[in-house]
Amino acid sequence: MKLWGGRFTKKTDSLVHEFNTSINFDKRMYAYDIKGSIAHVTMLAKQDIITKEEADEIEKGLLSILEDIDNGSLEIDGSFEDIHSFIESTLISRIGDTGKKLHTGRSRNDQVILDMKLYTRDEIKEIDHLLKNLLEVLLKVSQNHTKTIMPGFTHLQKAQPITLAHHFMAYFEMFKRDRSRLKDIFERMNELPLGSGALAGTTFPIDREYVATLLDFKGVTLNSMDSVSDRDFLVELLNAISLIMMHLSRFCEEIIIWSSDDYKYIELDDAYSTGSSIMPQKKNPDIAELVRGKTGRVYGALMSLLTTLKGLPLAYNKDMQEDKELVFDAIDTVKTSLLLFAPMIDTMTFNKDTMYKSCQNGFTNATDVADYLVVKSIPFRDAHGIVGQLVLHCINHHKSLDELSLEEYQSIHPIFEEDIYEAISLETCVNKRTSIGGPSEESMNKVIAINETYLKNN
Ligand code: ARG
Repeated sequence: MKLWGGRFTKKTDSLVHEFNTSINFDKRMYAYDIKGSIAHVTMLAKQDIITKEEADEIEKGLLSILEDIDNGSLEIDGSFEDIHSFIESTLISRIGDTGKKLHTGRSRNDQVILDMKLYTRDEIKEIDHLLKNLLEVLLKVSQNHTKTIMPGFTHLQKAQPITLAHHFMAYFEMFKRDRSRLKDIFERMNELPLGSGALAGTTFPIDREYVATLLDFKGVTLNSMDSVSDRDFLVELLNAISLIMMHLSRFCEEIIIWSSDDYKYIELDDAYSTGSSIMPQKKNPDIAELVRGKTGRVYGALMSLLTTLKGLPLAYNKDMQEDKELVFDAIDTVKTSLLLFAPMIDTMTFNKDTMYKSCQNGFTNATDVADYLVVKSIPFRDAHGIVGQLVLHCINHHKSLDELSLEEYQSIHPIFEEDIYEAISLETCVNKRTSIGGPSEESMNKVIAINETYLKNN
């Protein structure tokens, strides 16, 4: 059953076989393996390395294998070493000797990296699609909440008034960067490695550019040793996925805080929360917590792969087989997380009144009182000190800044006039911040329009 049994006189130790084998996880690449093999034999025939009839026969055999695996009538046999040997040997058992020509001018080393590239290209597209879906949800929520005032935080202490739209569109920017990172990775890795052989190319007159065209690569790799040992794109992908998870995790943290009893800014839909086996009143944000938790395991995959690759000499080394479980797991994790996250956001309800009230205490308009004084020609540093005194006065008298009487204001500084109330209303605080990127309705509408165009074009 071994592809390489010829020079061996003994059977592989069974534990060695088990340790060495990758079929239980690389089987998910079967369709890509077959696609790559078909392109390979098509080229072999074009170059007269095998005959057209042989190529057709091999292609037919491979397509029958693909169909049978797809429809479940052919089970991938876990006793094979890897998906490549399983498919090649199934082909030989189906079409006979012609099948033995499939591997002409090819090695599993260039084959496996081709499979990984074909697989990750599709997964990158899928992740991007899920990110886009999330962006659409974020944009929709934001459009509905450009007037929903809430506190913005620094150090998790109330800082200045913002809107829910402003808050959500911050995440929009993060996930937009994630998409552009995926695009970069795709561009950089989109070169055909096949034709690199085991490490030193092949003596057959192959046409790599032709295979690249057949498989939709933008070109061919330029060094066969690098091609078979390059796993950079997987590290980059794990890094990009880690960043997506980090963004999701930060968002989850806020969802968890916001849905807590003391905040109650939001309520998660029943379909996206869970209960407790003992405390009947509980409604827990488990999904957000799990996404936050799974972020750790994705970071682990990134560190793991970097560490595996560190110190590997050129060219292929079996250590590289370790890339698969890490990458597959990280991809599965980020996809499920995104898949759940978007509808969780889409179905949650926002307690606008609670958010507004929360913004009314905590002196979120203190900066605006200082700015008011600056407009009245008091230098900012002095204004800051005056407002500090006002805040202290408020704390001592259990009042907010807009609950102070004009007399109280004037007792701290005579320059205050009746217009102070209008100047520090939460609406003014938000809507005077009109520079682009700020929370005002006017600037949010501009940013939302820019991002609508972005979503149409990307
Ligand atoms: N399962 C191997 C991997 O994932 C395939 C390549 C095997 N090549 C070899 N020379 N043993 O890397």
